[in-house]
Amino acid sequence: MADLLDAGERLGREELAALQRERLRTTLRHAYENVAFYRKSFDDAGVRPEDLRTLEDLARFPFTTKADLRDNYPFGMFAVDRSEVRRIHASSGTTGLPTVVGYTERDLDTWADVVARALRAAGVRPGHTVHVAYGYGLFTGGLGAHYGAERLGCTVVPASGGMTARQVRLILDFRPEAIMVTPSYMLTLLDEFERQGVDPRSTSLKVGVFGAEPWTEAMRREIEDRFALDAVDIYGLSEVMGPGVAQECVETKDGLHVFEDHFLPEIVDPVTGAVLPDGERGELVFTSLTKEAMPVVRYRTRDLSRLLPGTARAFRRMEKVTGRSDDMVILRGVNLFPTQIEELVLRTPYVAPHFELRLTREGRMDALTVRTEARNGTTADQRQEAGRVLADAVKDGIGLTVAVEVAAPHTLERSAGKIRRIVDLRDAPGS
Ligand code: DLL
Repeated sequence: MADLLDAGERLGREELAALQRERLRTTLRHAYENVAFYRKSFDDAGVRPEDLRTLEDLARFPFTTKADLRDNYPFGMFAVDRSEVRRIHASSGTTGLPTVVGYTERDLDTWADVVARALRAAGVRPGHTVHVAYGYGLFTGGLGAHYGAERLGCTVVPASGGMTARQVRLILDFRPEAIMVTPSYMLTLLDEFERQGVDPRSTSLKVGVFGAEPWTEAMRREIEDRFALDAVDIYGLSEVMGPGVAQECVETKDGLHVFEDHFLPEIVDPVTGAVLPDGERGELVFTSLTKEAMPVVRYRTRDLSRLLPGTARAFRRMEKVTGRSDDMVILRGVNLFPTQIEELVLRTPYVAPHFELRLTREGRMDALTVRTEARNGTTADQRQEAGRVLADAVKDGIGLTVAVEVAAPHTLERSAGKIRRIVDLRDAPGS
């Protein structure tokens, strides 16, 4: 195993801390000297890059938010001359302007290295074929996965998202060992295998590297059972790099090792911004340590997790992301994340692993309907029973009274990439 580790993965904790300190100082200076936004935000906070002596001093530096990136649309956060920028990606931005990110040649190189490292941790090896079904284009998923797999020495099938029947054909014909795709789109592929009369357990796939959206342990079991593969989690975000910020190791499947030689994680209280000790849940914040084109200092991800000590690697782990603070529904004073419903849906007999949360307003009360669908071959009685069981489970487990709909098989819309779990109709006319 040890010979599979790269130099960064072999660092001991102390060597790593020394490297982080040095890289952090360079990053702070680079950001301060080359990005007007950072110069102003550091000046306003009364801190200078040279004030950082220990890693703990980072807490004195101001946060960066998505709104800051939007305010500097499109290229205001770049720290290098435009001629040095080799690639641009942008995240779709469900509201308002997209978030634009840029990479120098060296950034692209680092990115390929971290994704190659992630794939190795997932159990992928040089010579394997990797089917990439993350979308190619402005989204970082497709191209990020692609160059990492090539870097590792794999054969890449750049399938991108969509054209589900063709994806199944390609998997059957090219016999990839690994697939990289959102977990929700993997379920769409599952349906298609079954529709074509192919046993999903009989494919060549041995490992799935799933990310770009939250997914649960229950979903891992579902996908592993139905496909006979190892399902591991990959995390990342465009602002920090793209996929490859953190990766779960296949031998432990116990959360994601953060690639701390390139990305420094913190957990903060989402309300006060105070830094929380390892082990406590809060919002993930990242500072890039090696990025040139667009360094980020204390970027607030809005993703909720906690930091844990390393296991299969010396790097600390982040627990599987339970959700984004933006996706939290507050219903009659109870906080709810879609992943909590996912756990319960997957435990309910006769129900397929698909669901949608529909929020409506009845008078002055908000109401939540969990829309699921029945598995193939269920009777009307079984569907009714499933609805009751799921509603009780939500009541007992989360303390909320919700309506449950168990629709006929194959009626809910399927994911084609990142799934949207919440349909908010509260301000819709007639709701
Ligand atoms: O989704 C990067 C990526 C692509 C990661 C492919 C993994 C695989 P963005 O489009 O900028 O980048 O979205 C980033 O997606 O802040 C999280 O909310 C969510 N996310 C990404 N990976 C995970 C994961 C890519 N493994 C946002 N678990 C992040 C939970 C995830 N949420």
